[in-house]
Amino acid sequence: MGLGYVGLPLAVEFARLGFRVIGLDPNEQRVASIQRGESYIQDVSSADVAEVTRTGLLAATSDPEILKEMDVIFICVPTPFTKTKTPDLSYVVAASEEIAQRLRPGQLIILQSTTYPGTTEEDVLPILESSGLKAGGDFHLAFSPERVNPGDRRYDVTNTPKVVGGVSPRCAELAQLVLQKLMPEVHIVSSPRAAEMTKLLENIFRSVNIALINELAKLSERMGIDIWEVIEAASTKPFGFMPFYPGPGVGGHCVPVDPYYLFWKSREYDFYPRFIELAAELNQGMPYHVLSKISEALNSRGKTLQQAKVLILGVSFKPDVDDARNAPAQRVIELLLSGGARVSYNDPYIDHFSVGKDVFYPEEQTLTSTPLTEELLRSQDCVVIVAGHRAYDYQWIVDQAPTVVDTMNATRGVKSKGGMIFKVGAPSPRP
Ligand SMILES: NC(=O)c1ccc[n+]([C@@H]2O[C@H](COP(=O)([O-])OP(=O)(O)OC[C@H]3O[C@@H](n4cnc5c(N)ncnc54)[C@H](O)[C@@H]3O)[C@@H](O)[C@H]2O)c1
Repeated sequence: MGLGYVGLPLAVEFARLGFRVIGLDPNEQRVASIQRGESYIQDVSSADVAEVTRTGLLAATSDPEILKEMDVIFICVPTPFTKTKTPDLSYVVAASEEIAQRLRPGQLIILQSTTYPGTTEEDVLPILESSGLKAGGDFHLAFSPERVNPGDRRYDVTNTPKVVGGVSPRCAELAQLVLQKLMPEVHIVSSPRAAEMTKLLENIFRSVNIALINELAKLSERMGIDIWEVIEAASTKPFGFMPFYPGPGVGGHCVPVDPYYLFWKSREYDFYPRFIELAAELNQGMPYHVLSKISEALNSRGKTLQQAKVLILGVSFKPDVDDARNAPAQRVIELLLSGGARVSYNDPYIDHFSVGKDVFYPEEQTLTSTPLTEELLRSQDCVVIVAGHRAYDYQWIVDQAPTVVDTMNATRGVKSKGGMIFKVGAPSPRP
């Protein structure tokens, strides 16, 4: 259930193993695309989709009636948050209700959507048991977090170990049996809530460490130190250190969202975890810091933000991916528009990018990626690297652009002739 960044790779890999897989998704465009044998997810090739649809091992539908026929059901639906950062479990609830209406004995349901500890047992289980069937006996229920890392060329669903927690030991064993077909290393924990917490620990670990390095990056700028040089040096320590890098802020469906799921749930326990909010505050402050870097870069050329031409390079949430959900570029662009700048962007992976209609910028605007040419770069007052895609030729960009703000050290090793490079985490160049 859910043929997105998580569900589609899983469906394709199970089909490649010889399982008969049906992808269920209300999004008819996605269903039609799979039926044509075409992928719409960057990490899944159309050749792989075409191969398994041709052999009949993978099919897609929007009709939930198909659920009756399944032996194993993976729930891979979105778990977003609201504007005020409250968990939105509506997709998980709707998917559970669709299953409950058709549940039959012997089925195994594995929730994979990232969520707070307690969801499987407190939210999903009662809905499924409203069918009259009992978990652990009539049907089986487990939680197994998805760890897929979009754009990662080394780790995918077939070589990333899985964690699983069942509502009963038998549920966990059955889920392990299925998952082991895909990835032999499946680690069982004592309960679904331990598995749910595992995923949150992994993402909060990232959020907190990124926040720490973002804070140190800002301090380094003031102290005249280049944090990138420092991280490289610290990384020579073979134990007790793991590099994290500063940037324009965190984005995507995981790191900026998941910690709030735990934060929200903690309040039920009279507990207010401080690291989660502190990290969010520091990471969400980065677009504002990028704005101050842009102002500094413009100032060096005697310009102000008002009417300045600013080109954003890369609007996806991280380099080399086609996913722009919660991308820091959104806030950077909104802050620039609010300041009166004329903003355009280029991204080889994202053709259209919507900003605004929120507290940061009142009007919704959909921008279209502008072709990257020498003329475009030369006509700008400032070029800002927000997602440092590998596809860009940074030496060429720096050679053409009058000033560059580099939020992620994409221009390392690049020589600046006339133009100046203002890096997040490094002292600003002197005119
Ligand atoms: N994207 C990632 O890198 C990633 C990594 C790990 C975990 N996760 C988690 O996995 C979950 C899914 O994320 P995603 O990125 O694949 O989301 P996505 O938005 O790419 O895909 C979700 C799909 O679910 C479909 N859907 C919604 N309601 C449905 C229903 N009732 N039945 C069937 N399909 C339904 C949507 O139409 C959509 O196609 C989220 O909880 C997310 O936090 C995502």
